[in-house]
Amino acid sequence: MKKIILNDGKTIPIVGFGTYKSTEQEAIESVISAIKHGYSLIDTAAIYGNEEAIGKGIKASGVSREEVYVTTKLWRECLGYESTKQEFKKSLKRLNLDYIDLYLIHWPANAKNYDNWQKANADSWRAMEELQAEGKIKSIGVSNFFEEHLEALFKTAKVKPSINQIEFHPGYWQEKLVNYCKKQNIVVESWSPFARGKVFGNEVLEAIANKHGKSVSQICLRWIIQHNVVVIPKSTSPNRIAENIQIFDFELSTFEMEQINKLPEMGFSGELPNLWPDRV
Ligand SMILES: NC(=O)c1ccc[n+]([C@@H]2O[C@H](COP(=O)([O-])OP(=O)(O)OC[C@H]3O[C@@H](n4cnc5c(N)ncnc54)[C@H](OP(=O)(O)O)[C@@H]3O)[C@@H](O)[C@H]2O)c1
Repeated sequence: MKKIILNDGKTIPIVGFGTYKSTEQEAIESVISAIKHGYSLIDTAAIYGNEEAIGKGIKASGVSREEVYVTTKLWRECLGYESTKQEFKKSLKRLNLDYIDLYLIHWPANAKNYDNWQKANADSWRAMEELQAEGKIKSIGVSNFFEEHLEALFKTAKVKPSINQIEFHPGYWQEKLVNYCKKQNIVVESWSPFARGKVFGNEVLEAIANKHGKSVSQICLRWIIQHNVVVIPKSTSPNRIAENIQIFDFELSTFEMEQINKLPEMGFSGELPNLWPDRV
């Protein structure tokens, strides 16, 4: 498995496993299946309500703690210094782990919901920096941050975010934000690589898939990793879990990368950090 080096010197596997909307049983079984098929990065979040199941799946898989890379996230309604410390402690307990590899602010505070959104993000970040210094978190990062949220955070941050996990799939890949993150040496991680299924049936993707003897899902994932972006596809089916990691035996040409880059908007979730809790 290819790994990417983060700005804090740690590494992250380029392909991981998503668990959003997995029920307790699905989460346990799919994590066991994912680890068996060669995934080592497992992505969850406090709001998914499945951290306990993820912890059970990791234990049941039999791998040692060092062999698995666990990401979880601080929910956006819990921003602030004290609440971050408390929420982190709860996540750690539910996962039944003694450290987290990557802890993310799930969504930034916004002006509609916090009197001082800059302070809310900065206070959470300070708590995360301290937890990192104590060795309870290996890498700290953010999710769904726009340039303005990052710029504001930089004003008080001692540690730069290592990752920005954002919506990134064919038809919606936030090229400007991606370029900004790369310039800042922040690794981009893609969520919803299949736009929760909306990419399937696209003729351009199907033609490229047929040419390579691959599936549309494998084309999406390959396109993402060729952007040097980490990806975390979610599946509860053992066959699809296996399929989604078989993407290291072919390469998309520059022309094919461009074809996918240029696809018109498709599958956008409608979720934006500035609008929450409203949608587009
Ligand atoms: N930071 C954030 O705000 C944020 C937001 C959303 C998601 N995420 C993370 O990103 C992960 C991935 O995103 P996502 O779960 O929203 O969507 P996704 O991975 O784009 O799509 C998942 C859907 O695609 C199906 N699928 C998976 N592999 C397939 C294949 N090879 N062929 C056909 N269908 C396939 C799955 O069904 P089956 O289960 O039936 O296979 C599921 O319905 C999440 O699980 C979560 O960990 C983070």
